Amino acid sequence: MSSKVENLGTAAAEFNYWDPRWGQNPYPMLEHLRKSGGVGWSTALGGYWTVSSYSGVLRVLTDPDTFSSRMLVLPPLDPPQRLIPETLDQPEHQPYRRVFSSLFTPRKIRELEDEVRTLTRELIGKATAKPAFEFVSEFAVPLPCTVFLKILGLPMSELDRLLDVKEAQARGAASDDPVLRDRALNVVLPAAAAYFNEVLDERAADPNPPDDVLTAMVTQPAVGGVPMPREDMISALFQLVSAGLDTVTAVLGLSFELLASRPDLQRQLADDPGLIPSAVEELLRYWGIVTISRQANVDTQIDGVPIKAGEYVAILTPSANRDEIEFGNPTEIDFRRTGNRHVAFGAGPHRCLGSHLARMELQIALEEWHAAVPEYRLASDTPAERHFGAIMGLEELQLAVGAR
Ligand code: HEM
Repeated sequence: MSSKVENLGTAAAEFNYWDPRWGQNPYPMLEHLRKSGGVGWSTALGGYWTVSSYSGVLRVLTDPDTFSSRMLVLPPLDPPQRLIPETLDQPEHQPYRRVFSSLFTPRKIRELEDEVRTLTRELIGKATAKPAFEFVSEFAVPLPCTVFLKILGLPMSELDRLLDVKEAQARGAASDDPVLRDRALNVVLPAAAAYFNEVLDERAADPNPPDDVLTAMVTQPAVGGVPMPREDMISALFQLVSAGLDTVTAVLGLSFELLASRPDLQRQLADDPGLIPSAVEELLRYWGIVTISRQANVDTQIDGVPIKAGEYVAILTPSANRDEIEFGNPTEIDFRRTGNRHVAFGAGPHRCLGSHLARMELQIALEEWHAAVPEYRLASDTPAERHFGAIMGLEELQLAVGAR
Protein backbone atom coordinates (compact mmCIF):
# COMPACT_ATOMS: atom_id res chain seq x y z
CA MET A 1 0.00 0.00 0.00
CA SER A 2 1.41 3.43 -0.91
CA SER A 3 1.93 5.98 1.86
CA LYS A 4 -0.67 8.20 0.15
CA VAL A 5 -3.33 5.49 0.53
CA GLU A 6 -2.20 4.78 4.11
CA ASN A 7 -2.71 8.46 4.89
CA LEU A 8 -6.15 8.38 3.31
CA GLY A 9 -6.93 5.25 5.35
CA THR A 10 -6.09 7.05 8.60
CA ALA A 11 -7.99 10.15 7.49
CA ALA A 12 -11.02 8.03 6.44
CA ALA A 13 -11.39 6.72 9.99
CA GLU A 14 -12.01 10.30 11.13
CA PHE A 15 -13.45 11.75 7.91
CA ASN A 16 -15.49 14.92 8.55
CA TYR A 17 -17.25 16.15 5.42
CA TRP A 18 -17.25 19.72 6.79
CA ASP A 19 -13.45 19.81 7.25
CA PRO A 20 -12.05 22.57 4.96
CA ARG A 21 -9.17 20.30 3.95
CA TRP A 22 -11.58 18.29 1.76
CA GLY A 23 -13.09 21.44 0.22
CA GLN A 24 -10.61 21.90 -2.59
CA ASN A 25 -10.57 18.29 -3.76
CA PRO A 26 -12.61 15.64 -1.94
CA TYR A 27 -12.32 13.10 -4.79
CA PRO A 28 -9.22 11.09 -3.74
CA MET A 29 -10.88 10.56 -0.33
CA LEU A 30 -14.24 9.65 -1.88
CA GLU A 31 -12.55 7.16 -4.20
CA HIS A 32 -10.69 5.71 -1.22
CA LEU A 33 -13.98 5.31 0.69
CA ARG A 34 -15.58 3.49 -2.27
CA LYS A 35 -12.60 1.24 -2.81
CA SER A 36 -12.58 0.35 0.90
CA GLY A 37 -16.04 -1.20 0.55
CA GLY A 38 -18.37 1.81 0.14
CA VAL A 39 -19.59 1.79 3.77
CA GLY A 40 -17.15 2.83 6.51
CA TRP A 41 -17.17 4.10 10.09
CA SER A 42 -15.87 7.57 10.94
CA THR A 43 -15.31 8.76 14.50
CA ALA A 44 -15.90 12.41 13.48
CA LEU A 45 -19.17 14.34 14.07
CA GLY A 46 -20.14 12.12 16.99
CA GLY A 47 -19.54 8.90 14.99
CA TYR A 48 -21.29 7.97 11.72
CA TRP A 49 -21.19 5.67 8.70
CA THR A 50 -19.99 7.10 5.38
CA VAL A 51 -22.01 5.60 2.52
CA SER A 52 -20.06 6.24 -0.68
CA SER A 53 -21.09 3.43 -3.08
CA TYR A 54 -23.89 3.95 -5.60
CA SER A 55 -25.68 0.80 -4.40
CA GLY A 56 -25.41 1.83 -0.74
CA VAL A 57 -26.68 5.35 -1.41
CA LEU A 58 -29.69 4.03 -3.35
CA ARG A 59 -30.43 1.48 -0.64
CA VAL A 60 -30.55 4.14 2.11
CA LEU A 61 -32.52 6.70 0.08
CA THR A 62 -35.17 4.24 -1.03
CA ASP A 63 -35.78 2.58 2.36
CA PRO A 64 -37.35 5.37 4.46
CA ASP A 65 -38.88 2.89 6.94
CA THR A 66 -35.41 1.75 7.97
CA PHE A 67 -33.59 5.09 7.57
CA SER A 68 -35.26 8.13 9.14
CA SER A 69 -34.76 11.65 7.76
CA ARG A 70 -35.13 13.27 11.19
CA MET A 71 -31.44 14.29 11.28
CA LEU A 72 -30.39 15.56 7.86
CA VAL A 73 -27.10 17.12 8.78
CA LEU A 74 -24.36 15.94 11.16
CA PRO A 75 -23.25 16.42 13.93
CA PRO A 76 -26.68 15.63 15.42
CA LEU A 77 -28.52 18.56 17.00
CA ASP A 78 -30.60 18.15 20.15
CA PRO A 79 -33.46 18.67 19.49
CA PRO A 80 -33.21 17.94 15.74
CA GLN A 81 -34.09 20.81 13.40
CA ARG A 82 -37.55 20.31 11.86
CA LEU A 83 -37.36 21.20 8.15
CA ILE A 84 -40.56 20.67 6.20
CA PRO A 85 -40.92 18.45 4.20
CA GLU A 86 -37.38 17.07 4.24
CA THR A 87 -37.02 15.94 7.87
CA LEU A 88 -40.47 14.30 8.02
CA ASP A 89 -40.85 10.52 7.77
CA GLN A 90 -43.81 8.62 6.29
CA PRO A 91 -46.75 8.90 6.65
CA GLU A 92 -46.37 12.48 8.00
CA HIS A 93 -44.25 13.52 4.99
CA GLN A 94 -46.78 12.84 2.20
CA PRO A 95 -49.48 15.49 2.90
CA TYR A 96 -46.84 18.18 3.39
CA ARG A 97 -45.03 17.24 0.19
CA ARG A 98 -48.31 17.40 -1.71
CA VAL A 99 -48.70 21.11 -0.83
CA PHE A 100 -45.47 21.93 -2.66
CA SER A 101 -45.51 19.34 -5.47
CA SER A 102 -48.24 21.12 -7.41
CA LEU A 103 -46.06 24.24 -7.64
CA PHE A 104 -43.00 22.52 -9.07
CA THR A 105 -44.55 20.37 -11.83
CA PRO A 106 -42.92 20.33 -15.31
CA ARG A 107 -45.89 22.35 -16.67
CA LYS A 108 -45.52 25.09 -14.03
CA ILE A 109 -41.80 25.25 -14.67
CA ARG A 110 -42.27 25.47 -18.47
CA GLU A 111 -44.47 28.52 -17.91
CA LEU A 112 -41.45 30.31 -16.44
CA GLU A 113 -39.08 29.55 -19.32
CA ASP A 114 -39.44 32.78 -21.31
CA GLU A 115 -38.89 34.92 -18.24
CA VAL A 116 -35.86 32.87 -17.21
CA ARG A 117 -34.39 33.19 -20.71
CA THR A 118 -34.83 36.96 -20.74
CA LEU A 119 -33.21 37.29 -17.33
CA THR A 120 -30.35 34.98 -18.38
CA ARG A 121 -29.63 37.12 -21.47
CA GLU A 122 -29.66 40.31 -19.39
CA LEU A 123 -27.23 38.89 -16.82
CA ILE A 124 -24.88 37.56 -19.53
CA GLY A 125 -24.99 40.92 -21.34
CA LYS A 126 -24.10 42.84 -18.18
CA ALA A 127 -21.32 40.49 -17.06
CA THR A 128 -19.63 40.15 -20.44
CA ALA A 129 -19.72 43.88 -21.20
CA LYS A 130 -16.52 43.96 -19.08
CA PRO A 131 -13.29 42.17 -20.04
CA ALA A 132 -13.44 40.09 -16.81
CA PHE A 133 -16.22 39.38 -14.35
CA GLU A 134 -17.01 37.46 -11.17
CA PHE A 135 -19.31 34.67 -12.34
CA VAL A 136 -20.80 33.65 -8.97
CA SER A 137 -22.09 37.06 -7.82
CA GLU A 138 -22.89 38.31 -11.34
CA PHE A 139 -24.64 35.22 -12.70
CA ALA A 140 -24.76 32.05 -10.58
CA VAL A 141 -26.42 33.78 -7.59
CA PRO A 142 -28.85 36.23 -9.27
CA LEU A 143 -30.27 33.80 -11.86
CA PRO A 144 -31.70 31.07 -9.59
CA CYS A 145 -32.39 33.45 -6.71
CA THR A 146 -34.53 35.81 -8.79
CA VAL A 147 -36.57 32.90 -10.15
CA PHE A 148 -36.86 31.37 -6.69
CA LEU A 149 -38.19 34.58 -5.12
CA LYS A 150 -40.82 34.80 -7.83
CA ILE A 151 -41.99 31.21 -7.23
CA LEU A 152 -42.11 31.83 -3.51
CA GLY A 153 -43.98 35.12 -3.91
CA LEU A 154 -41.44 37.43 -2.24
CA PRO A 155 -40.14 40.70 -3.71
CA MET A 156 -36.62 40.94 -5.20
CA SER A 157 -35.80 43.58 -2.58
CA GLU A 158 -35.67 40.67 -0.06
CA LEU A 159 -32.85 38.85 -1.85
CA ASP A 160 -30.05 40.10 0.40
CA ARG A 161 -32.01 39.18 3.52
CA LEU A 162 -32.66 35.66 2.20
CA LEU A 163 -29.03 35.17 1.17
CA ASP A 164 -28.08 36.13 4.72
CA VAL A 165 -30.62 33.60 6.07
CA LYS A 166 -29.26 30.89 3.79
CA GLU A 167 -25.70 31.62 4.94
CA ALA A 168 -26.78 31.61 8.61
CA GLN A 169 -28.49 28.24 8.16
CA ALA A 170 -25.78 26.63 6.04
CA ARG A 171 -22.74 27.79 7.97
CA GLY A 172 -23.39 30.37 10.72
CA ALA A 173 -25.58 28.19 12.98
CA ALA A 174 -22.98 25.38 13.03
CA SER A 175 -19.92 27.65 13.02
CA ASP A 176 -17.05 27.24 15.51
CA ASP A 177 -16.86 31.05 15.67
CA PRO A 178 -19.11 32.11 18.61
CA VAL A 179 -19.74 35.56 17.10
CA LEU A 180 -20.96 34.10 13.80
CA ARG A 181 -22.99 31.43 15.59
CA ASP A 182 -24.59 33.95 17.93
CA ARG A 183 -25.50 36.29 15.07
CA ALA A 184 -27.04 33.38 13.11
CA LEU A 185 -29.00 31.85 15.99
CA ASN A 186 -30.01 34.96 17.90
CA VAL A 187 -30.31 37.66 15.25
CA VAL A 188 -30.67 36.48 11.62
CA LEU A 189 -32.85 33.39 12.05
CA PRO A 190 -35.35 34.85 14.60
CA ALA A 191 -35.68 38.03 12.48
CA ALA A 192 -36.35 35.88 9.39
CA ALA A 193 -38.99 33.83 11.27
CA ALA A 194 -40.75 37.08 12.27
CA TYR A 195 -40.59 38.32 8.67
CA PHE A 196 -41.99 35.02 7.29
CA ASN A 197 -44.81 35.20 9.84
CA GLU A 198 -45.67 38.72 8.68
CA VAL A 199 -45.79 37.87 4.96
CA LEU A 200 -47.90 34.77 5.71
CA ASP A 201 -50.36 36.99 7.63
CA GLU A 202 -50.54 39.36 4.67
CA ARG A 203 -51.08 36.50 2.24
CA ALA A 204 -53.81 34.90 4.39
CA ALA A 205 -55.64 38.24 4.41
CA ASP A 206 -55.28 38.79 0.63
CA PRO A 207 -58.72 38.38 -1.05
CA ASN A 208 -57.06 37.84 -4.45
CA PRO A 209 -53.89 35.89 -3.76
CA PRO A 210 -51.37 35.15 -6.56
CA ASP A 211 -50.49 31.58 -7.57
CA ASP A 212 -47.29 31.04 -5.58
CA VAL A 213 -45.80 29.07 -2.69
CA LEU A 214 -46.99 31.47 0.04
CA THR A 215 -50.58 31.19 -1.18
CA ALA A 216 -50.36 27.39 -1.44
CA MET A 217 -49.17 27.22 2.14
CA VAL A 218 -51.95 29.34 3.62
CA THR A 219 -54.76 27.83 1.51
CA GLN A 220 -53.97 24.20 0.59
CA PRO A 221 -54.97 21.42 2.97
CA ALA A 222 -52.04 19.55 4.47
CA VAL A 223 -52.92 17.44 7.49
CA GLY A 224 -56.51 16.64 8.53
CA GLY A 225 -57.97 18.67 5.63
CA VAL A 226 -56.70 22.03 6.94
CA PRO A 227 -53.59 24.08 6.06
CA MET A 228 -50.45 23.24 7.99
CA PRO A 229 -49.86 24.99 11.34
CA ARG A 230 -48.13 28.38 11.10
CA GLU A 231 -44.88 27.15 12.68
CA ASP A 232 -44.70 24.43 9.99
CA MET A 233 -45.17 27.05 7.25
CA ILE A 234 -42.25 29.00 8.67
CA SER A 235 -40.15 25.85 8.88
CA ALA A 236 -41.04 25.08 5.24
CA LEU A 237 -39.90 28.55 4.17
CA PHE A 238 -36.56 28.00 5.92
CA GLN A 239 -36.27 24.66 4.15
CA LEU A 240 -37.03 26.13 0.71
CA VAL A 241 -34.49 28.89 1.24
CA SER A 242 -31.75 26.41 2.08
CA ALA A 243 -32.70 23.99 -0.74
CA GLY A 244 -33.50 26.57 -3.41
CA LEU A 245 -30.95 29.35 -3.03
CA ASP A 246 -27.65 27.49 -2.95
CA THR A 247 -27.97 24.43 -5.09
CA VAL A 248 -28.28 25.70 -8.68
CA THR A 249 -25.72 28.41 -7.82
CA ALA A 250 -23.30 25.67 -6.74
CA VAL A 251 -23.75 23.55 -9.89
CA LEU A 252 -23.40 26.62 -12.13
CA GLY A 253 -20.21 27.77 -10.38
CA LEU A 254 -18.50 24.37 -10.42
CA SER A 255 -19.58 23.65 -14.00
CA PHE A 256 -18.46 26.98 -15.45
CA GLU A 257 -15.11 26.69 -13.69
CA LEU A 258 -14.63 23.36 -15.42
CA LEU A 259 -15.94 24.56 -18.81
CA ALA A 260 -13.77 27.70 -18.68
CA SER A 261 -10.69 25.49 -18.58
CA ARG A 262 -11.97 23.12 -21.30
CA PRO A 263 -12.38 24.93 -24.67
CA ASP A 264 -13.14 21.52 -26.25
CA LEU A 265 -16.28 21.16 -24.09
CA GLN A 266 -17.33 24.78 -24.73
CA ARG A 267 -17.05 24.09 -28.47
CA GLN A 268 -19.22 20.96 -28.23
CA LEU A 269 -22.01 22.97 -26.57
CA ALA A 270 -21.71 25.94 -28.95
CA ASP A 271 -21.60 23.71 -32.07
CA ASP A 272 -24.37 21.34 -31.01
CA PRO A 273 -26.95 22.91 -28.64
CA GLY A 274 -28.96 19.66 -28.99
CA LEU A 275 -26.38 18.13 -26.64
CA ILE A 276 -27.29 20.51 -23.81
CA PRO A 277 -30.00 18.44 -22.04
CA SER A 278 -27.62 15.48 -21.70
CA ALA A 279 -24.76 17.88 -20.82
CA VAL A 280 -26.89 19.14 -17.90
CA GLU A 281 -27.35 15.54 -16.67
CA GLU A 282 -23.65 14.86 -17.06
CA LEU A 283 -22.70 17.98 -15.07
CA LEU A 284 -25.25 17.06 -12.37
CA ARG A 285 -23.70 13.59 -12.22
CA TYR A 286 -20.12 14.86 -12.25
CA TRP A 287 -20.66 17.25 -9.32
CA GLY A 288 -23.47 15.60 -7.30
CA ILE A 289 -23.17 18.41 -4.80
CA VAL A 290 -25.33 17.19 -1.86
CA THR A 291 -24.40 15.16 1.27
CA ILE A 292 -27.35 14.42 3.58
CA SER A 293 -27.74 12.02 6.47
CA ARG A 294 -30.20 9.51 7.90
CA GLN A 295 -30.60 7.66 11.21
CA ALA A 296 -31.25 3.90 11.34
CA ASN A 297 -34.59 3.05 13.04
CA VAL A 298 -33.70 -0.63 13.47
CA ASP A 299 -30.67 -2.91 13.22
CA THR A 300 -29.99 -3.37 9.51
CA GLN A 301 -27.19 -3.64 6.92
CA ILE A 302 -25.92 -1.65 3.94
CA ASP A 303 -23.95 -3.59 1.30
CA GLY A 304 -23.50 -6.33 3.92
CA VAL A 305 -22.15 -3.98 6.63
CA PRO A 306 -24.18 -4.23 9.88
CA ILE A 307 -25.67 -0.93 11.08
CA LYS A 308 -27.20 -0.63 14.57
CA ALA A 309 -30.50 1.08 15.40
CA GLY A 310 -29.84 4.74 16.27
CA GLU A 311 -26.62 5.04 14.23
CA TYR A 312 -26.23 7.84 11.68
CA VAL A 313 -25.24 7.43 8.04
CA ALA A 314 -24.07 10.15 5.63
CA ILE A 315 -25.18 9.75 2.02
CA LEU A 316 -22.33 10.96 -0.19
CA THR A 317 -23.99 11.63 -3.56
CA PRO A 318 -20.77 13.25 -4.92
CA SER A 319 -19.17 9.83 -4.47
CA ALA A 320 -22.09 7.64 -5.66
CA ASN A 321 -22.20 9.65 -8.90
CA ARG A 322 -18.59 8.67 -9.61
CA ASP A 323 -18.91 5.00 -8.62
CA GLU A 324 -17.00 3.03 -11.23
CA ILE A 325 -19.34 0.04 -10.76
CA GLU A 326 -22.31 2.09 -12.01
CA PHE A 327 -20.65 4.54 -14.46
CA GLY A 328 -18.07 3.84 -17.18
CA ASN A 329 -15.13 6.32 -16.98
CA PRO A 330 -16.78 8.23 -14.12
CA THR A 331 -14.09 10.91 -13.86
CA GLU A 332 -14.50 11.81 -17.55
CA ILE A 333 -17.03 14.41 -18.68
CA ASP A 334 -18.99 12.83 -21.55
CA PHE A 335 -21.89 14.91 -22.86
CA ARG A 336 -23.02 11.88 -24.90
CA ARG A 337 -23.12 9.52 -21.90
CA THR A 338 -26.08 7.12 -22.02
CA GLY A 339 -27.79 5.32 -19.12
CA ASN A 340 -26.86 8.17 -16.76
CA ARG A 341 -28.87 7.21 -13.64
CA HIS A 342 -27.18 9.74 -11.35
CA VAL A 343 -28.45 10.44 -7.83
CA ALA A 344 -27.72 14.19 -7.73
CA PHE A 345 -31.40 14.82 -6.90
CA GLY A 346 -31.58 11.92 -4.46
CA ALA A 347 -34.08 9.05 -4.84
CA GLY A 348 -37.15 7.69 -3.05
CA PRO A 349 -39.87 9.71 -1.30
CA HIS A 350 -37.70 12.80 -0.63
CA ARG A 351 -36.36 13.05 -4.20
CA CYS A 352 -35.77 16.71 -5.02
CA LEU A 353 -38.93 18.76 -5.50
CA GLY A 354 -37.00 21.42 -7.42
CA SER A 355 -35.41 19.11 -10.03
CA HIS A 356 -37.50 20.36 -12.99
CA LEU A 357 -36.74 23.94 -12.03
CA ALA A 358 -33.02 23.26 -11.55
CA ARG A 359 -32.77 21.44 -14.90
CA MET A 360 -34.60 24.23 -16.73
CA GLU A 361 -32.32 26.92 -15.26
CA LEU A 362 -29.15 24.95 -15.99
CA GLN A 363 -30.26 24.18 -19.54
CA ILE A 364 -31.13 27.81 -20.35
CA ALA A 365 -27.87 29.00 -18.77
CA LEU A 366 -25.81 26.65 -20.97
CA GLU A 367 -27.82 27.49 -24.11
CA GLU A 368 -27.61 31.24 -23.70
CA TRP A 369 -23.94 31.35 -22.64
CA HIS A 370 -22.75 29.26 -25.53
CA ALA A 371 -24.90 31.17 -28.04
CA ALA A 372 -23.67 34.57 -26.79
CA VAL A 373 -20.12 33.77 -25.65
CA PRO A 374 -18.60 30.99 -27.72
CA GLU A 375 -15.22 31.28 -25.94
CA TYR A 376 -14.41 32.14 -22.32
CA ARG A 377 -11.60 31.32 -19.93
CA LEU A 378 -10.46 31.45 -16.30
CA ALA A 379 -9.24 34.97 -15.53
CA SER A 380 -6.98 33.83 -12.70
CA ASP A 381 -4.33 31.12 -12.41
CA THR A 382 -5.25 30.56 -8.76
CA PRO A 383 -7.92 27.84 -8.42
CA ALA A 384 -11.26 29.13 -7.07
CA GLU A 385 -11.74 28.49 -3.35
CA ARG A 386 -14.21 25.64 -2.76
CA HIS A 387 -16.05 24.02 0.11
CA PHE A 388 -17.44 20.50 0.63
CA GLY A 389 -20.01 20.00 3.47
CA ALA A 390 -23.74 19.47 2.93
CA ILE A 391 -23.69 21.44 -0.35
CA MET A 392 -20.43 21.53 -2.26
CA GLY A 393 -19.63 24.73 -4.13
CA LEU A 394 -17.17 27.53 -4.79
CA GLU A 395 -16.85 30.97 -3.26
CA GLU A 396 -16.12 33.00 -6.38
CA LEU A 397 -14.98 32.53 -9.96
CA GLN A 398 -13.14 35.10 -12.07
CA LEU A 399 -13.83 34.58 -15.78
CA ALA A 400 -12.87 36.47 -18.95
CA VAL A 401 -14.36 36.47 -22.44
CA GLY A 402 -12.27 35.12 -25.33
CA ALA A 403 -9.74 32.33 -25.76
CA ARG A 404 -6.49 32.23 -23.80
C1 HEM B 1 -29.03 21.37 -8.94
C2 HEM B 1 -29.82 21.73 -7.97
C3 HEM B 1 -30.35 20.83 -6.89
C4 HEM B 1 -29.84 19.67 -6.37
C5 HEM B 1 -28.55 18.96 -6.78
C6 HEM B 1 -30.76 19.22 -5.34
C7 HEM B 1 -30.61 18.05 -4.60
C8 HEM B 1 -31.55 17.55 -3.72
C9 HEM B 1 -31.44 16.29 -3.04
C10 HEM B 1 -30.27 15.32 -3.14
C11 HEM B 1 -32.57 16.12 -2.29
C12 HEM B 1 -32.94 14.91 -1.45
C13 HEM B 1 -32.73 15.17 0.01
C14 HEM B 1 -33.04 13.99 0.90
O1 HEM B 1 -33.24 12.87 0.42
O2 HEM B 1 -33.07 14.19 2.12
C15 HEM B 1 -33.38 17.30 -2.48
C16 HEM B 1 -34.60 17.53 -1.86
C17 HEM B 1 -35.31 18.71 -1.98
N1 HEM B 1 -35.04 19.75 -2.84
FE1 HEM B 1 -33.50 19.88 -4.13
N2 HEM B 1 -31.80 20.11 -5.26
C18 HEM B 1 -31.59 21.10 -6.18
C19 HEM B 1 -32.41 22.19 -6.42
C20 HEM B 1 -33.55 22.49 -5.73
C21 HEM B 1 -34.36 23.67 -5.91
C22 HEM B 1 -34.08 24.76 -6.94
C23 HEM B 1 -35.40 23.60 -5.01
C24 HEM B 1 -36.54 24.53 -4.72
C25 HEM B 1 -36.92 25.51 -5.29
C26 HEM B 1 -35.23 22.37 -4.28
C27 HEM B 1 -36.09 21.93 -3.28
C28 HEM B 1 -35.99 20.72 -2.63
C29 HEM B 1 -36.91 20.29 -1.60
C30 HEM B 1 -38.10 21.07 -1.05
C31 HEM B 1 -36.49 19.03 -1.19
C32 HEM B 1 -37.12 18.14 -0.11
C33 HEM B 1 -38.13 17.20 -0.73
C34 HEM B 1 -38.77 16.28 0.25
O3 HEM B 1 -38.28 16.11 1.37
O4 HEM B 1 -39.82 15.70 -0.09
N3 HEM B 1 -34.12 21.72 -4.73
N4 HEM B 1 -32.74 18.15 -3.38
